Amino acid sequence: MKRKLTNIMVTGGAGFIGCNFIHFMFSNESGFNGKIINVDSLTYAGNLESLASIEDKFGNACMTQNRRYYFENVDICNRDSIEKILKKYEIDTIVHFAAESHVDRSILGPETFIKTNVMGTFNLLDCARNYWKNNDGSIRNDVLFHHISTDEVYGSLEETGYFTETTPYDPRSPYSSSKASSDHLAMAYFHTYNLPVTLSNCSNNYGPYQFPEKLLPLMIMNIREGKNLPVYGDGKNIRDWLYVEDHNRAVWLIMKDGKKGEKYNIGGENEWENIKLLHKLIEITCKEISLNINDVKQTIQFVKDRPGHDRRYAIDCSKIKKELGWKRKVTFEEGLEKTVKWYLSNEKWINNILSGEYSKWIENNYGDRK
Ligand code: NAD
Ligand code: TYD
Repeated sequence: MKRKLTNIMVTGGAGFIGCNFIHFMFSNESGFNGKIINVDSLTYAGNLESLASIEDKFGNACMTQNRRYYFENVDICNRDSIEKILKKYEIDTIVHFAAESHVDRSILGPETFIKTNVMGTFNLLDCARNYWKNNDGSIRNDVLFHHISTDEVYGSLEETGYFTETTPYDPRSPYSSSKASSDHLAMAYFHTYNLPVTLSNCSNNYGPYQFPEKLLPLMIMNIREGKNLPVYGDGKNIRDWLYVEDHNRAVWLIMKDGKKGEKYNIGGENEWENIKLLHKLIEITCKEISLNINDVKQTIQFVKDRPGHDRRYAIDCSKIKKELGWKRKVTFEEGLEKTVKWYLSNEKWINNILSGEYSKWIENNYGDRK
């Protein structure tokens, strides 16, 4: 039976990748004409400002029959509320982005990672299983639970090799361990209860609306403000960078055409050493705001390494390319330039974040770095 994909619950839709997903789904490119119900508890990382244009065009302002976007301020760990939302909107699809997502925070305080990423995912899976049950106890097969995960579950690579879908899990941080647990739970619900589940593991996303604690937006903001640029360890750790829109295009493709019970790796085939990436970013940013590249390079500060810092991530994404025909559209040069321009021209979005709780958190945890 074909999947309905009509009333989609997007968890974590107020965060970086989730809000970009919602923008993508309401663009002409997706071809989607159903409803989106954004379920987000608005932690420090959730920001409804990122969805203001969607709210205006498809949300509350629309007549009831034309309305296609709804927001529910709900914690994914709350069973009653999730059950009510599933019923109220007759949800047939869940795409699960909500998570605590920052490795450094998971090292400083792992507990919320276990609550949201493990217990929250369990709660969603279990509510879905219950809600999507037929009278005979079997589960509907026109529904879908798509779970979003990370390449960090596979651990750390040396100089060669790639993560494939069959690479054994070897997570090293509280964040990646909590995501690994959630992946196992999602697959367990497929194998044990036949819940239609698909899963994707992606590499480091970059693009608009990313919370400026992550490498790229943090560095762009610090360059703009003349602050030091903190590089962990020797700066030679390697990440594979994927433009967020390319990621979301892949997610939508899996939701439409992916085989249930299957997992797909999504990567940018675009590996960069942190320090080399920073040099490139400095060049682009300095060009945009007329700063002297050499002066800015002087502000690079090698700081104490992250404990358990994974050395290298690199994804083999041949499965999704071969089986579903996905390929990335945005080159790194284009994506990086777009990203830098976005942060430099969305000062209000940035300033609202930098003036709030986040600046206190930075002061308390990294005050000594200045
Ligand atoms: P993010 O931190 O920017 O956003 C997370 C969102 O989830 C926020 O809006 C937050 O308010 C919400 N949230 C957190 N806890 C919640 C709870 N208990 N109930 C309801 N909502 C809650 O994260 P992101 O970067 O957009 O990542 C989205 C997903 O993609 C995560 O599952 C993450 O593990 C995965 N992922 C991210 C990357 C990346 O590079 N950002 C890479 C690989 C995988
Ligand atoms: P990050 O954006 O936190 O993503 P992840 O840890 O999930 O890969 O970090 C990307 C890389 O940049 C990682 O190797 C850690 C490094 N890094 C720094 O060197 N300095 C920083 O201030 C941050 C936030 C990250």
